[in-house]
Amino acid sequence: MSTVRLVGITKHYGATVAVQDFNLQVADGELVTLLGPSGCGKTTTLRTVAGLVEPSAGRIWFDDQDVTDLPPRKRNIGFVFQTPALFPHLSVANNIAFGLSVKGAKKDAIGARVDEMLTMVGLAGYGSRLPAQLSGGQQQRVSLARVLATDPRVLLFDEPLSALDRNLRDTLKYSILDLQRRTRKTAIYVTHDQSEAFAISDRIVVMNAGRAEQIGTQTDIYLHPQTPFVAEFIGANNGLTGTVTGTDGAGDEARMVVAADGLTLRARPRPDVRAGDQVLVYLRPENLVVLPDGDGAEYDNVVDGTIDRVIFEGPTAQLRVDVAGRELRADISGSQRLTLIQRQGKVRLGFNDLTMIPAGAALTSAGSESASAAIANAAPGGTEP
Ligand SMILES: Nc1ncnc2c1ncn2[C@@H]1O[C@H](COP(=O)(O)OP(=O)(O)OP(=O)(O)O)[C@@H](O)[C@H]1O
Ligand SMILES: [Mg+2]
Repeated sequence: MSTVRLVGITKHYGATVAVQDFNLQVADGELVTLLGPSGCGKTTTLRTVAGLVEPSAGRIWFDDQDVTDLPPRKRNIGFVFQTPALFPHLSVANNIAFGLSVKGAKKDAIGARVDEMLTMVGLAGYGSRLPAQLSGGQQQRVSLARVLATDPRVLLFDEPLSALDRNLRDTLKYSILDLQRRTRKTAIYVTHDQSEAFAISDRIVVMNAGRAEQIGTQTDIYLHPQTPFVAEFIGANNGLTGTVTGTDGAGDEARMVVAADGLTLRARPRPDVRAGDQVLVYLRPENLVVLPDGDGAEYDNVVDGTIDRVIFEGPTAQLRVDVAGRELRADISGSQRLTLIQRQGKVRLGFNDLTMIPAGAALTSAGSESASAAIANAAPGGTEP
């Protein structure tokens, strides 16, 4: 077991900056996910931890040991790849035993360990099969068993489920979480799939263009995005640009008034935003409520619009509403969604809980700020070098 600390990791490939000044502390036993779009530097970051990519700058620590210059085999990490990297001509048992034999374990001990691992991943009795005689999901379980057999210090996953179909992904992600919890291994998990990240992570690092944009729990990232990128990348969001024109109310009721795309909106004040500032305002579709005409006194914001489209999606009905010439999306659940299917014409929407972000909230400063906050607040167990 181990804490993992990345300090100022940068990786250049010629003119390409794959990772830039990346800082992260992973606590002992924690599962942290790197989440971001294709090409944002997730794999490169993970591979620097494994020792498969040499950083251009920065250091990597496991507990109080600087491992930056150690080769992969001396780091004692377990790496699970997107496609199971099994030896096709070896049985499942021999695949799992492989790493143990390399480490010079005794034959009896290996046999017992292989059985233990097969049971742990739910494949007891499959030891004599060849990988080709297993399903994709079972093969990925064997990869996990093989990695866990050598009792690695740190587990690294690079999109381990993305080659599998959706149902299998849904079950296997919980198997991975369960195994990580039971073995109490520190883990870094890479995915571009938000629902996967939300389901299994203790914390999530949202990456963009080689940088950590925001580091936090699911609720931090979803409810309190710190940058426009995070607000737009995580979940659906209606985004508007505007200017703060003043304040309204006092105390708990104080709101900043924002003129945004022809609408007047009210958002909770932020200490870093003043009258005259340019801001971005985000409202989540599920926070918009359809109100009876003339109603809405209890909402910070009430807008009138015209329904463009209603899309019935089963659990929700998605409303596309033209409000002052721009389209807002509202996701309506519960019984109200059924009454809306046939609805046309005018509609009144109410909402609170706007997210206001200063325009040009610098990606870099927000990223490194949250990264250093994460380091300052890192869970106990980390030993400072
Ligand atoms: N060996 C390499 N040589 C040159 N450029 C590279 C190399 N590996 C990665 N890159 C570049 O570095 C950037 C980050 O790549 P990386 O593989 O880390 O992204 P990723 O977030 O894992 O993307 P994906 O979700 O598609 O796997 C990309 O622009 C990529 O083209
Ligand atoms: Mg990748």
